[in-house]
Amino acid sequence: MTNYPFLSSTDPQMLKLIEEENQRQRDGLELIPSENHTSKAVLQALATPLSDKYAEGYPGRRYYAGNAVVDKIETLVQERAKKLFGVPYVNVQPYSGSPANLAVYMATCEPGDSFMGLDLLSGGHLTHGWKMSATSKLWTSHPYFLTDDGAFDFEVIRQLALECKPKLIWCGGTAIPRAIPFAEFAKIADEVGAYLAADISHIVGLIAAGEHESPAAHVHIITTTTHKTLRGPRGALIMVTEKGLAKDEKLGQKIDKAIIPGLQGGPHLNTIAGIGVALLEAAQPEFKTYAKQVVQNAKALGQALVEHGFKLVTGGTDNHLLLIDLTSTGPGRGKFLQLALERVGLYANMNTIPGDSGPPLYPSGLRLGSPAATTRGMGAAEMIKIAEWIARASQAIKNDHLPEDKTERSEVFKKFAERLAGDQNFETLRQEVQELCGRFPVPAIG
Ligand SMILES: Cc1ncc(COP(=O)(O)O)c(C=O)c1O
Repeated sequence: MTNYPFLSSTDPQMLKLIEEENQRQRDGLELIPSENHTSKAVLQALATPLSDKYAEGYPGRRYYAGNAVVDKIETLVQERAKKLFGVPYVNVQPYSGSPANLAVYMATCEPGDSFMGLDLLSGGHLTHGWKMSATSKLWTSHPYFLTDDGAFDFEVIRQLALECKPKLIWCGGTAIPRAIPFAEFAKIADEVGAYLAADISHIVGLIAAGEHESPAAHVHIITTTTHKTLRGPRGALIMVTEKGLAKDEKLGQKIDKAIIPGLQGGPHLNTIAGIGVALLEAAQPEFKTYAKQVVQNAKALGQALVEHGFKLVTGGTDNHLLLIDLTSTGPGRGKFLQLALERVGLYANMNTIPGDSGPPLYPSGLRLGSPAATTRGMGAAEMIKIAEWIARASQAIKNDHLPEDKTERSEVFKKFAERLAGDQNFETLRQEVQELCGRFPVPAIG
């Protein structure tokens, strides 16, 4: 049990649920590549009275009184981010990745302007122009796609840019297992005079540790969440590079204005302090070792999955994530496999794959990654075991298929989950997962 003495006397009902979640995290394994486990130090910064303070504005120019100390905190976090990523300007206030990206549009585009981003179904993020996102309602989205084998076709991307003359081009995404060639994007953006923004939310920790090329020399703007491979609290950063300031010396101020008064009110100072702690941790030699191991583990997991007969988009990975292509076993298999793995305490997520022919709610892929397992101290031997479990779970559900009739689908998945809940083989698998996880504590909760 974690020690929460005040919660225990004030709100035992809430404490019980928090303990339940802690136990779920201990007993299972987060394989969702966008998740990780923060350190105790990061969590401690979050649980401070910094949460109580209003500080609309920026250090030295706030709308509220009493900000002498938080000015020092925000400035310290800015300096740590600038140093770690080699950039001259940063805004540490975005509440999360989505508002950070919205602020980039507001700083670089007028309403209705054209922009380009990787399509959601190819592995882009909602905020890179998906049709349901505010980004494509307020600006004009011209998505580009990966080829069916998961590659960027820069001739096609260039042609699109020449035709639609975007103000802004995004590179980066949520399900890209290979290194992002920032220089190739820069050639196109420079040719058409567009701002180039790299959304490095997924690979930020690898970039901080030198395990992935930094976009700083190639792009004008960098956005990132802080809670994925960086291992900080839920939040985000927007950075402007030297190249960005050379293109527009006011770009930093435009980003600041887009955040407040454009999109947000008071910054979440406890989160900003937690981000500062995570940045300090990410600058240590131990974090370099961690990031290297993240990549090695993802490669080991990928290789073991291939040996079990799985097909991976692009055949493997350069980073922390893998995308299993399940099309050969029929449509909608991503959802079946996600549910089967969840039953045994392995948390991965269904995902579309490039050129997916399945319906978006029942995609043909499964996305998984190594950041959280690596934080718990797991290595290649554990990755091999995990691949074996995934293969056993997949084999056990090989006869489950998505009905063509859409009205039958929710009932089929309900029955599927009920069947697995009572299945002894799945229970045995769950116990094996729990036993392994027991040997690799979650840092902040043991
Ligand atoms: C590439 C990318 N950008 C932006 C976001 C948005 O972050 P948030 O969920 O914090 O709004 C995500 C989150 O999954 C992401 O993967």
